[in-house]
Amino acid sequence: MKLLILVALLGLASAAVFQHDLSKIESKRTKMIKAGTWPAYRKYKDFLRLAKAPHNLKSVAQNVNDYEDVEYIGNITIGTPEQTFLVILDTGSANLWVPDTSCGNGSSSTCPDYCSDADFCQFLCDTSCCSFKKNAIAKPAPKASACANKRKFDSTKSTTYVKNGQTWEIQYGTGSANGFLGQDTVRFGDAGTNQLVVPNTIFGQATSISTFFAQDPIDGILGLAFQSLAVDNIPPPLVNAISQGLLDQPLFTVYLQEKGNVDNVRGGVFTYGGLDSTHCSSDVSYVPLSSATYFQFRMDSIGIGSYSSNQGWDVISDTGTSFIGGPQDITDALANAVGATYDDQYGTYFIDCGANIGQTKITIGGKQYAIDAKQVLVDAGNGQCEFAFFPFNSGGFGPSWILGDPWIRQYCNVYGLGKKNIGFAKTL
Ligand SMILES: *[C@@H]1O[C@H](CO)[C@@H](O)[C@H](O)[C@H]1NC(C)=O
Ligand SMILES: *[C@@H]1O[C@H](CO)[C@@H](O)[C@H](O)[C@H]1NC(C)=O
Repeated sequence: MKLLILVALLGLASAAVFQHDLSKIESKRTKMIKAGTWPAYRKYKDFLRLAKAPHNLKSVAQNVNDYEDVEYIGNITIGTPEQTFLVILDTGSANLWVPDTSCGNGSSSTCPDYCSDADFCQFLCDTSCCSFKKNAIAKPAPKASACANKRKFDSTKSTTYVKNGQTWEIQYGTGSANGFLGQDTVRFGDAGTNQLVVPNTIFGQATSISTFFAQDPIDGILGLAFQSLAVDNIPPPLVNAISQGLLDQPLFTVYLQEKGNVDNVRGGVFTYGGLDSTHCSSDVSYVPLSSATYFQFRMDSIGIGSYSSNQGWDVISDTGTSFIGGPQDITDALANAVGATYDDQYGTYFIDCGANIGQTKITIGGKQYAIDAKQVLVDAGNGQCEFAFFPFNSGGFGPSWILGDPWIRQYCNVYGLGKKNIGFAKTL
């Protein structure tokens, strides 16, 4: 008996549960909508998408990873002593990268062609590029690097760093990042807190990141999905933690706090290795994943008001997306049912903030879930709200729907990396 207890205690000592506090920011997208600059930005996005189309058919479809609408971010540290980075905790991707000290030292320091378009230039180019184009006599001004205001990893200052050197590149819907790989200790959470410490983690050291990331408050991205989704099949940091037996259970729980229209406040918790009994009900309903790449599963139906569709689709739960995306015929019908109208210029559904829209009802694994109106009415300024759905064209590849933050704010999501399942629990 005594021996058993001792063994159990030893087991607890070697694996554990860790909590990681997040901040909620107002997304770049919401800021641009309020400022009226969003239509021009969308024009640039469409341009990028079409420009890529002939080379790679898949990229005609919308990419899951368009980070302009990110709302929840947190700190990690890399190396010994610790170097802190503010990252997107993203269940919709599977690689970790942060800028390297050499970021922006490369040769791509001239103004790209698209900077000649005044609309694009204001978002994507250094001001010196925009003014150069208006004054044809001046010689090309060097473009300020998108890395300029980012924290950068200095491997020479870390005693635990191991050189790898292999190159990598990641394409996102609206940008890209590339560099080389390194290996070091990665810690989830702020320095000085009870961190999940993962030795020998391979991560990307970016030497170049698109201008797209320049205005974002984040330094890099921490992908939390499956290794099969990872570029170059690099073990994601959390998968590495599980392989090393650092967690009680091979899963993590996400609680995103409902904060309304605020910027940069504490707003959610990721719990690695267990459930979050502080913020989430212990009554969790699990469904198997239909694909263990993203956290992808089946959704049976969706509806609001008098409208409902039970076609059934593959969906993903994505912390890195602030809205809910789905096939346009369905999102149009949902919008129509509540009296929201699609604005072509803004590419979004607008609705009066005072509208009484009721709950959005979703069925998963035969169980009905309800999303409150406050989660899907997002203030866009001047009494106007966005109806938090967007038409998402999967192009026939991958999931048809993206269940983003409105869904995860309403229900804690339990991401089962080990059992390849996903669970949902009421927030407390
Ligand atoms: C991240 O760390 C910085 C200090 O390094 C701190 O000011 C900031 O509040 C932290 N942000 C989050 C989201 O934890
Ligand atoms: C990159 O440029 C910065 C700033 O000029 C410099 O401090 C750093 O040492 C350079 N890094 C490399 C690897 O060349």
